[in-house]
Amino acid sequence: MSIHYNEQKKLFKLDAAGVSYIFKIYQDGFLAHLYYGAYIPDDNLPDFERRPVYASFSAQPDTVEPYSFSPDTCPMEIGCNGGADMRIASVQIRNADGNAVTEMRYVSHKIYAGKPGLPGLPALYANTREECETLELTMRDAVTGAECVLLYTVFEKHPAITRSMIIRNASSKTMEIERAMSFSMDMNRCDYDLITLYGRHVQEREFERRPLGHGTQGVGSRRGSSSHAQNPFMALISRGGGEDFGEAYGFNLVYSCNFKAEVEVDYNNSARVIMGINYDDFGWKLAPGEAFYTPEAVLVYSNEGLGGMSRAFHRLYNDNLVRGEWKHKKRPLLVNNWEGTGMEFDDDKLYAIAKWAKETGIEMFVMDDGWFGRRDDDTSSLGDWYVNETKLKGGVGSLVRRVKALGLKFGIWYEPEMISPDSDLYRAHPDWAIHVPNRANSVGRQQYVIDMSRQDVRDYLFERISDVLGHNDIDYLKWDFNRNITEAGSALLPANRQKEFYHRFILGTYELMDRITTAYPHLLMEGCSGGGGRYDPGMLYYSPQIWCSDNTDALSRVDIQFGSSLCYPASVQGAHVSASSRASYETKRNVAMWGSFGYELDPAKISEEARAEIKAQIADYHKYYDLIHYGDLYRLISPWEDPYNCAWEFVDEEKTQALATYLIKFKKERRGLFLRLKGLDPAKYYRWEETGEVFSGALLMNAGISLFCMPNEDGYSKTFYFKEV
Ligand code: DGJ
Repeated sequence: MSIHYNEQKKLFKLDAAGVSYIFKIYQDGFLAHLYYGAYIPDDNLPDFERRPVYASFSAQPDTVEPYSFSPDTCPMEIGCNGGADMRIASVQIRNADGNAVTEMRYVSHKIYAGKPGLPGLPALYANTREECETLELTMRDAVTGAECVLLYTVFEKHPAITRSMIIRNASSKTMEIERAMSFSMDMNRCDYDLITLYGRHVQEREFERRPLGHGTQGVGSRRGSSSHAQNPFMALISRGGGEDFGEAYGFNLVYSCNFKAEVEVDYNNSARVIMGINYDDFGWKLAPGEAFYTPEAVLVYSNEGLGGMSRAFHRLYNDNLVRGEWKHKKRPLLVNNWEGTGMEFDDDKLYAIAKWAKETGIEMFVMDDGWFGRRDDDTSSLGDWYVNETKLKGGVGSLVRRVKALGLKFGIWYEPEMISPDSDLYRAHPDWAIHVPNRANSVGRQQYVIDMSRQDVRDYLFERISDVLGHNDIDYLKWDFNRNITEAGSALLPANRQKEFYHRFILGTYELMDRITTAYPHLLMEGCSGGGGRYDPGMLYYSPQIWCSDNTDALSRVDIQFGSSLCYPASVQGAHVSASSRASYETKRNVAMWGSFGYELDPAKISEEARAEIKAQIADYHKYYDLIHYGDLYRLISPWEDPYNCAWEFVDEEKTQALATYLIKFKKERRGLFLRLKGLDPAKYYRWEETGEVFSGALLMNAGISLFCMPNEDGYSKTFYFKEV
């Protein structure tokens, strides 16, 4: 890992583990991109001068030699709006004269050990100063006085580079940022396929692959959250590349609100990639001396296909994104009452679940929605965060004490960013709901969204949540978010700053999450948004796990888990066994073990055999915990390759053990009679626990294990555990 500046060539070379990223200060202070991909030695660098630099109709600044260079054809490190670069812009600033022309030129740079934080924003962090190096490069527009600081951090142990940008107003006049993407990067070719993760409620993060075409393509969200509909993730893979081979570039935005991720292929067949805050309906007034920080984007490169890319993301997020006490601590095996009881419960009913949980070997009881206000259904009470004593006699404290006396941990549900029209809070503070003047609010799940951009709202929420967390021994908080934002506006923002609303909203949410995790450092937070509607790295900075989906039917949820695994590790994936009926408890367990495992049911509503089976399953959670949470994931058969069967495998870092799972979603013909493993040491020998047979890694990976004797039935699944002899 290193960042070097070659003064003579005016060239920056950034090396992360196995990766090089190269650009130079070119004519007139423009930054020209040269290369991003597998490591290139320092003595053999790409030759910039040998590429086409000019095309008919390309404009050029009058300060450069005629026909020698145009920002329109040159691969650039930043895409500025309004000048000669006609491709999709990463920066657009409307200046005091009313135009939005900006031309950024190199001013200075510094290189230092470590990684800076981004004020108010989640970001990856360095555990030690030595494991990261950062380049901070300042550019300036001579006419307007706008400055852009490009931030690059490289990682010693990971093939990853993080990028973000600061825009500063170094002039004496207010300007308005209209577009501030976290990064822009021009690739020298376009023969890639674009991979994105689309979805909806109960069907999140479906894999989609399409060839890049000329013009602009991409995904985004305008829903006030990163959303079920599109995840803030995008990958480019070389044509013909796949799970185990080909070049894969992954891009993931550490942000939980409206985003945009786009690729433009131009007439030179080069591809510009941009990612950041969605510029639709975005604006930010920047007064003289002020600075605006963009969210951070994570760039991961692998020449071992999508599998290599995913494993790099997983290790990086486990090491440098997930924080706090629960980063390394074993997460408690939980039972949540939501699918079992809905909001129809009282303290005795919840206690009965907890009692069963303790007898079964479960470690934490989580009380979901319905414990506060008059909340018996979804028509009321969000915002009235006062316990409903008709349901919980003696308050939250009494139930917490009873559950704790059993020897279990206790978790609680909140949906802080919401307010019900039928709530005391809304009646007292109608202005606290997000709204615009003279227009009725749309309702979603019978609720409005509360204005998190307001300090008074955040103080109220902190005070209410603290009243419960501060007085009771609570171990876990599930933070839910169950609708999209519409009629986006804040009563406190002036008319000419309403475009700042969405970003201010999420900054407010981050601030409250930060306050809570700082005040209660032992608390384990689980993110949630109608399942996985805010399943993004921004949330993972505050909550080490996120409820993956409200879909707990193992046979369709497995697709969601495969999609999520493109960049998110198993350790962050909330995954529960429910009473859903399409699959056996064994299959439900096998699927839910791929994550932060738990149960989501009322034991009174399932059979005695099911309860006995659950009891028998618990030991495996402990046995495989480290292997699944911190091992390397190999997708053996993915749903996007085979709609009928799928298989996945975890291998520990030392390649001493592996757990493979094979699942028949729908019975048809098998792809083959053998399942080939991956990621083992070919020279090592492994014992298959079930039969005691010993196989070499080479045999397991090349010939595979026989599936011949396995039943071929819908929903059948089987795990295979191997340990080095
Ligand atoms: C949506 C979540 O995804 C569920 O798990 C549950 O917490 C409900 N909200 C409660 O309203």
